[in-house]
Amino acid sequence: MSAQDRKDYYYKKAKQQNYRSRAAFKLMELQTKSSILKYGDNVLEIGSSPGGWTQIIRSITERPVISVDLNDMEPIEGVYFIRGNISNPAINERIKPYMEKLHIEKFSAVLSDAMSRTSGKRDIDHSSSYLLCKRVMEISMDLLAEGGTVVVKQFQGDLTIPFLNEWSPRFRNSRITNVAASRESSSEVYIIFKGYISEHETDQFSQSPL
Ligand SMILES: C[S@@+](CC[C@H](N)C(=O)[O-])C[C@H]1O[C@@H](n2cnc3c(N)ncnc32)[C@H](O)[C@@H]1O
Repeated sequence: MSAQDRKDYYYKKAKQQNYRSRAAFKLMELQTKSSILKYGDNVLEIGSSPGGWTQIIRSITERPVISVDLNDMEPIEGVYFIRGNISNPAINERIKPYMEKLHIEKFSAVLSDAMSRTSGKRDIDHSSSYLLCKRVMEISMDLLAEGGTVVVKQFQGDLTIPFLNEWSPRFRNSRITNVAASRESSSEVYIIFKGYISEHETDQFSQSPL
C-alpha cells in the first residue's frame, strides 16, 4: 500500500467508526502491542486535538481525562480540555487545579501525540519533536505517579537514542516502537516508558547498603 493509500484507508476507517482522527488507530495499535492503559487509569494527554486518542483513552479507562493542546478541541464528555502550550513552563500550574478538582494526586499515565506542523525536512522535524518530547518528560517528572507510564511521539533522528538513554534510567522498562497506522514514509516512532521510578525511590536505592 502506498503512503497515500494508507492515509486514505485510515481516514475512511476513522470516519466509518466515528473517530475524530485516524490517529485513533495508532493508539489502538500501541495498546494492543504494549498494554499502555487499563481501566481506572488517570491520564494526562498532550497534543490531543482533534480528539481521536482522547476517545480511545476514555473508552479504556472510563475515567475523566485531562487533555492539553495548542489548538481548540470540540468537547467530549468527561474530558477536561486545556488550551495551552506545553513549552510554557507555567503549563503544570494550569493542569494542577483540574487534578485537584478530580482528586487526582498524580497521573497513572502521560500520553503525548504532540507534533508541530511537519516541514518535510527530516532534521527540523526531528529537532522540533525532540524538544516537545523533552517537555513531556519534564512535565511527567512533576505529575506522574510512581510506577506510571509515559508515551511520546518522536520523528526519529540523531537524538532519539540519546533521548532514550537519558530517560530510561527513570523507568523500569522502555522501548521504541512504530505503528502500521503511521504513514509508510514517516520516520515517526513512539517511545514507551513504563514503571516510573520517582526521585524518592531512586534516592532510597542509592542510599541502601550493597
Ligand atoms: C498529530 S496531532 C494529535 C492528534 C490527536 N492525538 C488525535 O488523536 O486526534 C498533534 C497535536 O499536537 C499539538 N501540539 C503541537 N505542539 C504543541 C505544544 N507545544 N503544546 C500543546 N500541543 C501541541 C498540535 O496542536 C496538534 O493538535
